[in-house]
Amino acid sequence: MVGTLQAYLAEKTAYIEQHLLPCLEQEGVPDSLYESMRYSLMAGGKRLRPMLVLAVLEALDKPVKRGLPFACALEMIHTYSLIHDDLPAMDDDDLRRGKPTNHKVFGEATAILAGDALLTRAFSLIAESYQADPEVQPATTVKLIAELGKRAGAQGMVGGQMADIEGEGKRLDLEQLSYIHQHKTGDLLVAALRGGGYLAEASDEQMEALTRYGVCIGHAFQIQDDILNVEGDAALLGKAVGSDADREKATYPSLLGLEESRRRLHALIDEAKTALAEAGLSHSILPQLADYVCNRKN
Ligand code: IPE
Ligand code: IPE
Ligand code: MG
Ligand code: MG
Repeated sequence: MVGTLQAYLAEKTAYIEQHLLPCLEQEGVPDSLYESMRYSLMAGGKRLRPMLVLAVLEALDKPVKRGLPFACALEMIHTYSLIHDDLPAMDDDDLRRGKPTNHKVFGEATAILAGDALLTRAFSLIAESYQADPEVQPATTVKLIAELGKRAGAQGMVGGQMADIEGEGKRLDLEQLSYIHQHKTGDLLVAALRGGGYLAEASDEQMEALTRYGVCIGHAFQIQDDILNVEGDAALLGKAVGSDADREKATYPSLLGLEESRRRLHALIDEAKTALAEAGLSHSILPQLADYVCNRKN
């Protein structure tokens, strides 16, 4: 089983990375901006969000290729969020994906602009690619753009990042902490599942299950991120450990301890799998991807 998942991850990562770089426009772009965007986008990473898009198409027996533009757009938004998250004004980190952070290499101004450009390119990529694809209805493209705009924006990821920064040094309650985790991290995973659902013409029941699965693994993903920040291996992670405690971040281990954090992580993974089972989607790779979220070491 593990061998199967490892092979799946390797195959899909290669497939996504092969299509990611050509999504960046180079013509008319200042060299320093292009290099900075490329540096972070191609620095590696698990490519989980794009992988989830492709996995939904596969689960619903639709061509995986159809998911590529949306998958690559999501990875661009995720990469922009990491570049900005690492800035001195935010988490002030020096290492990301095993390499010096974008602002360490290109300077803060270029890092900010590279993030801005990745975010905007994500939307033009979706609009241009699906406009040229006769298999995708214009109404579906509009739904994808609306979904991504909402989940990545002030009511979604950016709102979660705001609450995370404002929570530094404070003792938050579980509800406030859940808000942070569901939005700063969970929402982009939910967008991956729902975007895949739109592209695969999922039924209402399937969409509901994909959304519940996404909410659960999204929340779980950040709990594991918190746990790895306490007891992970920096060399494997490609980023610092212990930094949450240094910055007095509100995290699951700091609020509930490691053992209870792990218990909640497993409960969320179980719920994610139940949602899939109820909608008849357990045959797919999605249950194994839920396990991967919780067992990952990087
Ligand atoms: C890191 O995300 C930031 C969080 C939202 C927790 P990932 O752990 O998916 O980072 P990469 O893409 O693999 O580098
Ligand atoms: C990152 O959260 C969330 C986003 C970038 C939106 P963290 O700050 O907890 O993630 P890492 O540990 O730096 O990857
Ligand atoms: Mg952060
Ligand atoms: Mg951070």
